[in-house]
Amino acid sequence: MTKPHVFITRPMPHWLTEKLEQEATLDVWNKNEAVPEEELVRRTAEADGLFCTVSEPVTRNVIEQAPRLKIIATMAVGYNNIDLEAAEEKGVKVAHTPGVLTETTADLTFALLMAAARRLPEAMDTIRKNEWGSWAPFAFTGQDIYGATLGIIGMGRIGEAVAKRAGGFDMNILYHNRSRKREAEERTGAVYAELDELLEQADFICVLAPATPETEKLINAEAFRKMKKTAVFINTSRGTTVDEKALVNALREGEIFSAGLDVFENEPIGADHPLLSLSNVVALPHIGSASEKTRRQMADMTADHILQGLHGLSLTHEAPG
Ligand code: DGY
Repeated sequence: MTKPHVFITRPMPHWLTEKLEQEATLDVWNKNEAVPEEELVRRTAEADGLFCTVSEPVTRNVIEQAPRLKIIATMAVGYNNIDLEAAEEKGVKVAHTPGVLTETTADLTFALLMAAARRLPEAMDTIRKNEWGSWAPFAFTGQDIYGATLGIIGMGRIGEAVAKRAGGFDMNILYHNRSRKREAEERTGAVYAELDELLEQADFICVLAPATPETEKLINAEAFRKMKKTAVFINTSRGTTVDEKALVNALREGEIFSAGLDVFENEPIGADHPLLSLSNVVALPHIGSASEKTRRQMADMTADHILQGLHGLSLTHEAPG
């Protein structure tokens, strides 16, 4: 009997390919770049399983041209890059990796928050450029974190994990979510707020909401105008939740203090992106879940999902439609 065929959209360590090769033949895209849609269509056309990442556009076109496809497993918690409706219509299962990356992404969110509040990259650049003259009373003054008000937009797993960290800094925590999260409130002391109230009162605003039609450009020019001039804005969810032009403007015009960004509207961004011309931006290349342990767990879970899908078993984490 011929083995099923799996297309993997990134180079993977041997332990992972060996695990999958016991049950499938593999085609691996050997570049650390997103597979363009045309190539994705071509390479998925013969596949029974697709192991992808956040960067591949798994469109209706890809799915409809892959008659054997049984399982799409993304090595990510977010699956906005996958056309779930088309997958359902074609009976293709979709899996993602919630849970394993919660704490790691919350750590990174907090790291960005602190870096943007205390202007760490800017301060380090001064040393690199050999411009550190002397201790200067008002150089690199930033915003206090301890005792400040944190606003979390999107109180899912990662939102709650960020709230827990905020407790250690004695922060007051406001959150906004589609629905009240009473258990999270009890566990973290977070208080529900309407979006406007949160935008007006928070010193730190973290977007941790998934990319959906409802959250598209949720944070726009009007939202930035409502924020404090000292506000620090953090986004570790998806770039589509923010109107990037409005963000550039808000940072340039001093409507907010700074921003810490791990995600962008169109990734990857180049060095000529307007956000990078601003000294009050800390920008990272979408590394929220990038700890060695977490990425190993995500890859392993994704491989398990592929095998489950190929065998017609129920998925440990099926993407909720
Ligand atoms: C996710 O998992 O959705 C992240 O954005 C990538 O780690």
